[in-house]
Amino acid sequence: MPLHRPRRNRKSAAIRDLCRETTLSAADLVYPLFVHADGVDTALESLPGQTRWSLDGLVTEARRAWDLGVRAVVLFPKIEDALKTSDGREVRNGDGLIPEALRRLRAACPDLCLITDVALDPYSSDGHDGIVAPDGRILNDETVAVLCEQALTQARAGADVIAPSDMMDGRVGAIRAALDGEGFSEVSILSYTAKYASAFYGPFRGALDSAPKAGDKRTYQMDPGNCREALRELELDEAEGADMVMVKPAGPYLDIVRDVREATNLPVAAYQVSGEYLALHAAAQSGWLDLEAAALESLVGIRRAGADLIFTYFAPAAAGWLAR
Ligand code: PBG
Repeated sequence: MPLHRPRRNRKSAAIRDLCRETTLSAADLVYPLFVHADGVDTALESLPGQTRWSLDGLVTEARRAWDLGVRAVVLFPKIEDALKTSDGREVRNGDGLIPEALRRLRAACPDLCLITDVALDPYSSDGHDGIVAPDGRILNDETVAVLCEQALTQARAGADVIAPSDMMDGRVGAIRAALDGEGFSEVSILSYTAKYASAFYGPFRGALDSAPKAGDKRTYQMDPGNCREALRELELDEAEGADMVMVKPAGPYLDIVRDVREATNLPVAAYQVSGEYLALHAAAQSGWLDLEAAALESLVGIRRAGADLIFTYFAPAAAGWLAR
């Protein structure tokens, strides 16, 4: 007879609950929301179950998520072509789509944590996160100056957390200084610290019509083969004053989530990106995968790897499933 029987700790739901090492709750989740200036809510073909919301629809959806226990949203704008320029100057418009969305959300849902994305791609006629030089290079320092203005525009409109996703060098420190210089010392910075040049962003770019017009993002987003480089980015972001750090995508990069977790005492976020969400949906649609079970398992896996918080399009659905 075996002396050790690990199965004793699995013999009932109550004991399994007592022994569980990693938990998942609605309060761990951040819900990414797409918004446009149109008055109609448009279902997104590239992201089943997700919508490009009108401002009214956005507020209703954020409230619905809040009522399910989701405490944070991150906003992504679909900017009209006429407002897209090579310098992304619309990011400075205090009456633009994102500032208006922030004010409406704050009024309707005062305690909801409002996170904003800092990067030029939705505003760029080139579809890049930074300013593109005539020879195709992405200009780092010129871009950082615009990103600081974008962050200030978002802070003035009520953002709680600024999340730079652009991967320019030095942007966390520069944004911190810009925010502090205008009295926004309480506005947090969640840095996309290790953001990889991933094929899994495809459905997102479809949702915002933000794919690069030429070239790709490999001169600023990280090479999928690298892990020490993520730790170097982490050191820099910590030194520059990041309050939280992120790894993105999540599922294919769980080793990086673990490495970053072990190397920092800051809260670690992971972004289960559009392609990860779509892949699970498509597999479930085939009839061979149970969406609820697979989605919850993928989220627990991301938490188990070391993420404190998870950006996921499953946020309201998962909150509903977890409440049962
Ligand atoms: C843009 C940005 C991207 C995502 C979040 N912010 C796309 C990109 O870098 O091209 C992707 C999110 C997703 O795929 O769900 N700065």
